Parts: sequence; C-alpha cells; structure tokens
Amino acid sequence: MKLTFILRGPILGYMLLLSVIFFSTCSAPDWQTYTKWQIYRGDAGSTGYSSLDQINRENVDQLKVAWIFDPQDADGARVPKYECNPIIIGDRLFATSARHWVYALDAGTGKMIWSYNPRDGDMGVGIKRGVTYWEKGDDRRILLTAGEYLYALNADSGKPINDFGERGRVRLDTGLGPDPDSVWVIPTSPGIVFEDLLILGSEVSELYDAAPGHVRAFNILTGELAWTFHTIPQPGETGYDTWPEDAWKSVGGANNWGGMSLDQQRGMVFVPLGSPSYDYYGLNRIGMNLFGNCVVALEAATGKLVWYFQTVHHDLWDYDLPAPPTLITIEQDGKKIDALAQTTKSGFLFVLDRETGEPVFPVEERPVPASRIPGEQAWPTQPIPLKPAPYARQKMSESDLTAFSPEDHQFLLRRFREVRYEGLYTPPDSLGTLMVPGSRGGSEWGGSAFDPETGVIYLNSNESPEIASMISARKQQSKNQGGSAYKRGNRFYTNYCATCHGSELEGFEPNIPSLQGLKGRMTKEEVLGRIANGGNKMPAFGPLLEGFEDEIIAFLFDLKEQATTKQAVKKDAGPGGYVNTTAYSFFRDGSGRPGIKPPWGTLNAIDLNTGDYLWKIPLGNHPEWQQPGEGATGSENYGGAAVTAGGLVFIGATRDKKFRAFDKDTGALLWEDSLPAGAYATPAIYEIDGIQLVAIAVSSSDENPSGHLRAYALIEDSGQ
Ligand code: HEC
Repeated sequence: MKLTFILRGPILGYMLLLSVIFFSTCSAPDWQTYTKWQIYRGDAGSTGYSSLDQINRENVDQLKVAWIFDPQDADGARVPKYECNPIIIGDRLFATSARHWVYALDAGTGKMIWSYNPRDGDMGVGIKRGVTYWEKGDDRRILLTAGEYLYALNADSGKPINDFGERGRVRLDTGLGPDPDSVWVIPTSPGIVFEDLLILGSEVSELYDAAPGHVRAFNILTGELAWTFHTIPQPGETGYDTWPEDAWKSVGGANNWGGMSLDQQRGMVFVPLGSPSYDYYGLNRIGMNLFGNCVVALEAATGKLVWYFQTVHHDLWDYDLPAPPTLITIEQDGKKIDALAQTTKSGFLFVLDRETGEPVFPVEERPVPASRIPGEQAWPTQPIPLKPAPYARQKMSESDLTAFSPEDHQFLLRRFREVRYEGLYTPPDSLGTLMVPGSRGGSEWGGSAFDPETGVIYLNSNESPEIASMISARKQQSKNQGGSAYKRGNRFYTNYCATCHGSELEGFEPNIPSLQGLKGRMTKEEVLGRIANGGNKMPAFGPLLEGFEDEIIAFLFDLKEQATTKQAVKKDAGPGGYVNTTAYSFFRDGSGRPGIKPPWGTLNAIDLNTGDYLWKIPLGNHPEWQQPGEGATGSENYGGAAVTAGGLVFIGATRDKKFRAFDKDTGALLWEDSLPAGAYATPAIYEIDGIQLVAIAVSSSDENPSGHLRAYALIEDSGQ
C-alpha cells in the first residue's frame, strides 16, 4: 500500500502557518523538537508530546488505518495484555509483541524487516512495554529484557551482539540477593539510555521473599554492570535508619517497574519506586522505609543519590509509583521552573523541583489512621499535596454506592458497613479494609503527557476501590483441618479463589482464566508456583499455601481418591503471617457490577502553571451500565495519552475497545475508532516521508490471539 496524504483547501494554509512555527524551533537539539518518538513514552522526559500537526482538530475525523501488523506469534495460547509503546528510529519502528518477540518494521508500511524471539520457544510471562535504542557511529543497538536476561541486538539485522555479555545477553538476577536462582527479577518497562549506559529497573515479587529492587546501569558496549543504587539502603547509606537493623538483607521490593525519565543536560535520572514487599503488611520493615514509594534523582553517570521525595511512608496499600515522572517546565510569578510531575495510584499529583526535589505547590504531613493488625506500625502521617486537587476520588460514603437493583445495593451496603474504612490510608485489616482508590489507581503505568507549549498535563485515571482482607496464615491453617485432601483443598479454594475464578472454576474471561482442565495444561509445580507468587493481578498466597500444597492440587486436578495426609501446622509463620487474600479484586456488587457510582475512569487536563484543572471528563463508556439520562460512565483504563501540536490528545486504554482523539483545549471528543480489542497501550506519533502516523498496540481478541499493532494517517483510501 502506498501512503498518499490528503491535503485540501483551508487546511493547507493553516498547516503552512504551523510549519513556520515548527521550523523556528528546529535549532533545538533533536530530543527537544518533539518530532520523533525514539524513546518509550516519546522522549527522555516522558512527555508523550509530538510537535507534529498534520493531523489536527480540523481533519482528525478523516483518519484511516494506514497499516496493521499482526505478529501471529501467540501459538494459540493465552496472551496477557499487549502494552507496548513502539519507538521509531529513521524509517524503522521497533516493538515487542505481547508474546515478547521483538520486531523491526518499516514504519511507513508496517512490513516486517526482522524478528527475534528472545525466549527461544518458551512463551514468557509478564508484560513487555517496549525496547530501548542506542547508537554510536555505525553501531546501532536495540536493548530489551526478556525473562531474567538483558539482550543487545544489532538494530539493522536483529542478530544478538556477540561481544555483549555472554553471546549477546546478561543475567539480571545476579548481585541482588544471596542466591540468584531464588531471585525473580523481570523488568516490564524499558530502561533508559545515558551516554553508553542503560539504566534499568525491575519487576520483583510482591511477596515476603522478594528481591530488592535496586536500580542498575549496564555498559551498553560490554554488558558489564556499571553501577547499582540500593533502593533498600545498606549500612552507612542515606535512609538505612528508616528500617529495622539489617532489613536490607531480607526485605525486597522498592523497585522501579514503571520506567524512568532522564534530564540529559543535568545528567540526572528520575526513578519512581514501588512499595517494599510484602505490599500489605510491614511487621518486618517497621519504619518509614526509604526509598520505597520515592521519586529518587540520581546522577546518571554514577548512580549517586542527588535527592529523594517519599510519596507514601511505610506503604501498606501497594501504592507503587507506577509511571515515569514527566519532565516539565512551568512558569510561576514570571519565573520558569524546571520540575517534574509524578502521577500516583492514590490520585495525588506531586510536582517537584527537578534540581532539589522540593514541592512546587505546598505539601502537608497529615495524620492518618493507625493499624489494628498485631505488631504493625502504620506511619502516623502521610504527605498531602494541596495542589493540584486529587484527580481520583479518595473518599466514598454510602451515597456513592451503586444500586443496580435493591438486592445489589443491600449487598454493597452490608459490605460497606462491615469493613474498616476511615478514608485514605486506612490500614489493611482482618475485617477487610476499603481502599479508595484501590491498588490499580488512580494512575497506572500509562502516566501522563505534557504539552510544553501550554504547560498543561494530560492524565487518565481509574476509580476502582478494592478491599484488602488480611488473613493470618497460622490461624487459617489450624482452622482448615479434617476431611480428605480433596475436601480441604475444596475449602481452601472456596475461601480464597472462588471470588475470582468462580465456584465452578469457570473464571471470568478475558481477565481471569478458567481453571477447568488445568491438569492438562499446567504441571503441579507450575500451579503451586502460581498460587504462591501470584503475578499479573493474581494475588500471592505464599505463606497461606504452606502445608496445603497437596490439598489444593487434589482439588484443582480433581484427585478425589488422594489419601488423607497428616497436616503439619507450622508453628511460626514468621513475618509472612498475614496475607491479603483479596488483593486486586474490585469492590463489586453481588452481580459483579462496580460498587462505586460512575465515573469509573477519567481523563484530566491540569494547567501546571497554576495547578488548576482545565477540564475533566469521563473516559470511555459502558452503555450496558449507563443509567437513563446520565452521561458516559467512564471505564477502567490502562495505557497512557499522547498530546500533539495539532491540538489533539490521543488515547486508547478503555475497556470499551475504542481509540479516541480529544480536543486538548476543551476535552471535546473529535474522533473515535472501534477496535477488535482494548488498546491498553500508549500511542506513538511520528512522521515518514512527510506523512504523520499514530501507532498503537491492540490487545488480543478471539480472532487475533497475538494482538496487533496498527497505525493511522490521513491517507487516500487505498482500496487494499
Ligand atoms: C483477585 C483475583 C484472584 C484470586 C483471588 C485468585 N486468582 Fe488465580 N488468577 C487471577 C488472575 C487475574 C490470573 C491470570 C493472571 C495472568 O494474566 O497471567 C490468575 C491465574 C491463575 C492460574 C494460572 C492459570 C492459567 O491458565 O494461566 C492459576 C493456576 C490460579 N490463578 C489459581 C488460583 C488459586 C488456586 C487461587 C486461590 C488460592 C487463586 N488463583 C486466586 C486472579 C485471581
């Protein structure tokens, strides 16, 4: 197919005018002109901004699909969400697939140039949001992670670079704990390049045995480890005294899984960190727990700490910092301030001075409720930014409960009254604690997009309360005794699994897999590993599973004849005594509908010069749940926005399977396209041969289990 651009009448004059403005910025370095998309989320500052304006308010309704690339690499298997944000170098587009293959495509046509399967036939678990590019002279490399390895490929051929690490790859699980084989480190978001270094975070387990989430830099030429920043400080390091003595030897997490941003001129990298493990219980980590939930600013060349800002002290809610901070320049009282804006799951937006980490708008420490779990010491205060106002609801009352039917409302009312709920930062409790927002945000990994021309930030947000139910493993073990192994397994399943996987193991596709016929597709070890460690919105049951391994297998594999085994009740479940058995499950009514009134997802535009909202709209719609006479419901959403000089905010992200463009000044919907599945990804905006394209990853559907990449442009109908 040939790309032929349509350009008619008055649009031409408008475009010529804008191109004058564009050329006047051309003296700025490459990364500041915002015409390329060479780095995850657009540029090193994660602005998600494009100065391209060929597609604009006047013509966006004529957008057409320019190409579709279907990797067809799923092999019929279940593929998790496809969250890649592709990068474009010259005329090539580089992307991962949901199945973790890497592809180089002709960015104008979507034709494949090369592919590489880092997993060598093995399917790979988790999410890959993209790759990183580096060049020096003729040496051009694509860096990616898959499983516990970092790979360097020749960007021209897709072949591994032999003198990088061991034949093109480096192990990532060494140097983090005493035993690499017991450490699980799988980065989900791509690293960022500074000179010859790739700075990389990781996804680690959320359970008691997690690896520490140290941030590391690898030499891109050799694969050697260049520096390590300890996110859980060791003796003599800043923050060591915010933990019990020697905690660094046993506590993990505080990892960077959402990506990071880089200020090239200052040589500083800004790293958002997650909560320490275990997410919901901190008996073995009493203290403020630096650098958990911090934005840390490091010297990119050395990994030396410059400043830190902690957004949650002693996190008990899994309020990880989910996305790279967006680097912004704003104006206050006639003074320009280089700052960063950090989105959170709690719904607060922290705006911090880039040089010092000082808040640009005031932040107050305010008292929050105490924990009632034995031994737990919730931190007595939490930082509350006074501006901008939170972009997600942080409070709910009985009047916010939905009433799809009187019974469903009664169910919610009963649940609302029986759980512990005293507002934001109510600690998880044995009665169940309502978390508003839940651990999926507020914001997720899509982060925010920033328009440097206007100082306005665009961000999408979820409204998805959850209940955290803390259960003592020891108590449970002594309760669930008697009967055959199958029966005890059945009880275990009913108590902890049925709410998600269903009373008949039928699941809730596409989000929660059916467990019927499990015996045929997973081994006993795989199943037990999955239950113990969780992952991908499946909670980890670690200590709760101990002593019940045979029983849950007997039940799931339908082994009714399994002999009764004697139960060994562990005397001391240790610090892992409590587990949140309902982690990640939404607060829903008896029929599975949302328990909080809409909107369930929003798109927000905030002027960061003033901290005031420009607009806020529901993002997405569920017509089946819409009440007569009411507006769009909004939808749970994953994946970020991109904003352009053409006056548009592009975003997919919603469950209603739409890709949309809004007017960036007003929030008015200007264009939408229906997709075969949700586009849970951030778009990439670029130009090839004078034609602007907008590419986005679309998740798997029944017809297309791999998911696909598609690009839109203003083109003549090709009649393809
Ligand atoms: C809060 C919801 C939730 C609860 C509770 C839950 N799971 Fe899951 N489970 C999930 C999700 C979501 C996945 C899919 C994760 C993914 O995409 O890989 C999953 C995946 C699995 C898988 C892998 C299946 C496959 O086909 O890949 C197994 C086995 C499993 N769960 C067993 C259990 C058992 C046993 C329990 C109870 C001890 C349990 N789960 C409790 C949400 C849950």
